[in-house]
Amino acid sequence: MLQEHVFEVENLNLYYGSNHALKNININIKRNEITAIIGPSGCGKSTFLKTLNRMVDLIPDVEVQGKINYNQVNIYDKDVNLEELRTVVGMVFQKPSPFPKSIYENIVFGPRTHGINKKSKLDEIVETSLKDVALWDEVKDRLHTPALALSGGQQQRLCIARCIAVEPDVILMDEPTSALDPISTTKIEELLQELKEKYSIFMVTHNMHQAARASDTTAFMLAGELIEFQRTEALFTKPSDTRTEDYIMGRFG
Ligand SMILES: Nc1ncnc2c1ncn2[C@@H]1O[C@H](COP(=O)(O)OP(=O)(O)O)[C@@H](O)[C@H]1O
Ligand SMILES: [Mg+2]
Repeated sequence: MLQEHVFEVENLNLYYGSNHALKNININIKRNEITAIIGPSGCGKSTFLKTLNRMVDLIPDVEVQGKINYNQVNIYDKDVNLEELRTVVGMVFQKPSPFPKSIYENIVFGPRTHGINKKSKLDEIVETSLKDVALWDEVKDRLHTPALALSGGQQQRLCIARCIAVEPDVILMDEPTSALDPISTTKIEELLQELKEKYSIFMVTHNMHQAARASDTTAFMLAGELIEFQRTEALFTKPSDTRTEDYIMGRFG
């Protein structure tokens, strides 16, 4: 059975060499919600995001302590299959990063590595994934043209579609709209509201207004610590920690 919490993070500490970048983080993240992480540059937002699918393992000299339970299994257990983990916990990066291939090939890449080769099945995945990100109508007549010819906003929606194509449970997004214009940003924010019906979304944003508009719960981090975690509306209207208040009032960057 699916749990109420998609992640339960217990006493999480992370060191880059001697730099203590995450300090005893405890947080439970609800399923089928959009959770935003805000905080000043360098406070550990991206690092925290990358602990949730063990992308931090790819960085040399990292030490992780503590537990992150996903569906009641600690993802830092030795026998966890990282490829499977990163399929169920997918990731979308800040800069749209399609492969230098066609739109179609970008989407079928993941499913093919999972052994799906039947053309009718791949066609179906391409269509449903592109429909899920509201890109189908814009590109259905040019599926075999280069993905890199799309606009930045379209490329980012394609990257979300590529992530969805392997049927993840959670989508991690690191400042997914910071490289986009305001109209593309609005499109992606609207899209997130639809995607959360199917997925749990955990998003770093440098933009407090985006967190306020688009998320259900918000976590505020400062210097590696989780300072406050609340329903988004409460955090922005009656923060319980003066450091949160100072940050959302713009008293420091
Ligand atoms: N690959 C890395 N190697 C060493 N230190 C890193 C690495 N990535 C981030 N850090 C350090 O970890 C801290 C948090 O960084 P980061 O998670 O990128 O913050 P944010 O995303 O909030 O800007 C910073 O002190 C940063 O210098
Ligand atoms: Mg970052």
